[in-house]
Amino acid sequence: MQKRDSLGYTLSVAAILCVACSLAVSTAAVSLRDRQEANVALDQQKNILDATGLAIGEYGVQASELSSKEIEALDAYISAKLVNLQTGDYVGDDQSLGSYSLVEEAADPGKSIPIVEPKFNPGEPRRPNVMKVYFVKKPGSDKILQVVLPVFGKGLWGTLYGYLALKSDLETIQGLTFYQHKETPGLGGEVDNPRWKAMWDGRKLYGPSKEPKAFVFKGPAPKDNPYAVDGLSGATITSRGVTNLIRYWASDDGYRTFLDKLKIEIENDKSSSSEGDK
Ligand SMILES: Cc1cc2nc3c(=O)[nH]c(=O)nc-3n(C[C@H](O)[C@H](O)[C@H](O)COP(=O)(O)O)c2cc1C
Repeated sequence: MQKRDSLGYTLSVAAILCVACSLAVSTAAVSLRDRQEANVALDQQKNILDATGLAIGEYGVQASELSSKEIEALDAYISAKLVNLQTGDYVGDDQSLGSYSLVEEAADPGKSIPIVEPKFNPGEPRRPNVMKVYFVKKPGSDKILQVVLPVFGKGLWGTLYGYLALKSDLETIQGLTFYQHKETPGLGGEVDNPRWKAMWDGRKLYGPSKEPKAFVFKGPAPKDNPYAVDGLSGATITSRGVTNLIRYWASDDGYRTFLDKLKIEIENDKSSSSEGDK
């Protein structure tokens, strides 16, 4: 038997403690992983609802304040599809839709391309070939009311991940939300401020010659500028990051080809439903 004050005894107790603690931590991490993933998915769902304005429109509050039943009710408005950004075509099936991970696709050189857009650089190395986009339709209707585009790009401290919702003309912004970022609360973190987010509603994404033009102004945005929202004070770098990421995802390297095809799809749906009305 070892003496309690011997080196061997101390080392054995330390080793047993280390093993017990690491077992406890890894068991907790593994058993909580499903719940963590479910929470991340729920948070993304809430952000999509906020970008679309559905939560405010139906219940008068942000989606974070809704019960899971209310979220479920609004979720009936949302459907998703995978889109190949180069061709603008829908791809994949229900299985690939369910298992899609933006972060994993962006990290896989076989499933992504380097970002080389010279004008609107979102500061990220790569973007996936395929993105998961969302549609807002009334339950039971095929009419597209909005499209929600996942977007990401660098701020000051890291990558901002969010959703850009467009109205059915595909040129007017409905909303912009970020579900993940590392910006400083009170500075760049003001991207989460509901008052700032509300300013995006009605801003124009494209200019007259169809160039991506929406942006964050430096200072209060002039009232007569349809493309601008107020700058985030003390956070010029985050503001510039938001401008770059919006313009990148609106460009030919982003969703432009898809949006052009979707516009035709929406126009065709409109004319076939008015034919049906005759
Ligand atoms: C602790 C700390 C946190 C900061 N966080 C941010 C931030 O999240 N976003 C940002 O753009 N600038 C942030 N800044 C300020 C930047 O360093 C930089 O000064 C600022 O973007 C310039 O903006 P302004 O021209 O509006 O002052 C932070 C500065 C400090 C000291």
